[in-house]
Amino acid sequence: MSKDTLTITDNRTGKTYEVDIANGTIKAMDLRKIKVSEEDFGLMTYDPAFQNTASTSSKITFIDGDKGILEYRGYPIEQVAEKASFLEVVWLLQNGELPNAKQLEGFRNQVTMHTMVHENMREFIDGFRYDAHPMGILLSTVGALSTFYPEAKNVGDATNRRIQMTRLVAKIPTLAAYAYRHRRGLPIVYPDNDLSYAGNFLNMMFKMTEPKYRPNPAVEKALDVLFTLHADHEQNCSTSTMRVVGSSKADPYSALAAAAAALYGPLHGGANEEVIYMLRKIGSKERIPDFIKSVKAGEGKLMGFGHRVYKNYDPRAKVIKRLADEVFDAIGKNPLIDIAIELEKIALEDEYFVKRKLYPNVDFYSGLIYEAMGIPLDMMTVLFAIGRTPGWLAQWEELLNDPEQKIARPRQVYLGPSRREFVSIDKR
Ligand code: ACO
Repeated sequence: MSKDTLTITDNRTGKTYEVDIANGTIKAMDLRKIKVSEEDFGLMTYDPAFQNTASTSSKITFIDGDKGILEYRGYPIEQVAEKASFLEVVWLLQNGELPNAKQLEGFRNQVTMHTMVHENMREFIDGFRYDAHPMGILLSTVGALSTFYPEAKNVGDATNRRIQMTRLVAKIPTLAAYAYRHRRGLPIVYPDNDLSYAGNFLNMMFKMTEPKYRPNPAVEKALDVLFTLHADHEQNCSTSTMRVVGSSKADPYSALAAAAAALYGPLHGGANEEVIYMLRKIGSKERIPDFIKSVKAGEGKLMGFGHRVYKNYDPRAKVIKRLADEVFDAIGKNPLIDIAIELEKIALEDEYFVKRKLYPNVDFYSGLIYEAMGIPLDMMTVLFAIGRTPGWLAQWEELLNDPEQKIARPRQVYLGPSRREFVSIDKR
């Protein structure tokens, strides 16, 4: 008869143990009873980079990396991207269900009410060098927001938590646009609450002297979809950071600053920027074979390819590829797209990439759309951060409500020197 347990025999002692299997996992703590002696600490798992460790249970996002499936609260990403606005998605991630029309309108008003940031924030931003990377500005100013809302520390209060979550979703685009305007030496543009979430962001980025900024509808729609596609991706590097920092009961502004810092890295959210550098460096379709050869020789990576979880086409990349055509029809083609398409074709037929199951990820095409929209390269990770904010927050709240969670504190395998006597400086 089959049983949901695992039998382990410790060949060091000959003892046999039985541990429960639930949801395809065993509890790491159950292994601690496996000991060679009473004094033994007990068996641990060794899993650098958490490649096979579930750090939490979650009801927010489902991914089947082998099949290329991504679902938010059970809804396939393709349907969500086509049918829901970004603010609907924010509600869905945070509440578990799609909002009805009244709920959505109420939420839209709430977010709109919170788009302004304290004027002191302008002074902080003015203090950055003229060429400061906007991601550095974003993560610093998000962290600084915690000083304006000291009540945010009260993370155990559900109502208070929700106010901070709404503030964060509302203010991140404002901070992001301020960072861009600082870099360009342009005056900041205040939020225009007549506009949609994405439309207002474009207004704060690009408004010049016209009395009223009117976003291009195709660009506005595409940006909204791009935010949706980035909204959550379960326990990735930045979300895990959000949870780890949140587990110490830090306020959400500080935790989100840490998550944004994790996103900044070129192996995570920084990859879309790197894809454009790579495509520019390749320069023409004729040079693709040489570039592929250099990647295979270990001289660099094919940026925008590969994923820790997807061993199939990233479903977000499929949506973005289609979206790129719509945007290019409306505002003109990014000339790098032809190189990208050819590069993808060659890579997907090459044994090196096939064998390693390396497919385009979300970043492969997103940078091309952003570039066509006039978004500079160093703002691309910032846009990723805007989209990912609701996911970080939903995961953070789920963590705080999870009775199984405690302060995150991994173990280590110590391989350093064993105990020795201190040597005074004159004897070294
Ligand atoms: N180009 C060339 N080779 C690659 C690539 C790539 N983009 N990605 C992985 N590989 C190779 C590795 O060298 C390794 O080869 P080996 O087995 O011969 O040593 C093999 O494929 C497995 O790769 P790992 O590094 O073990 O895969 P891991 O899951 O650790 O890394 C990651 C995933 C970081 C995304 C990686 O694929 C990568 O660096 N990609 C490029 C950067 C990128 O696009 N990042 C965005 C990810 S999506 C996101 O964060 C939103």
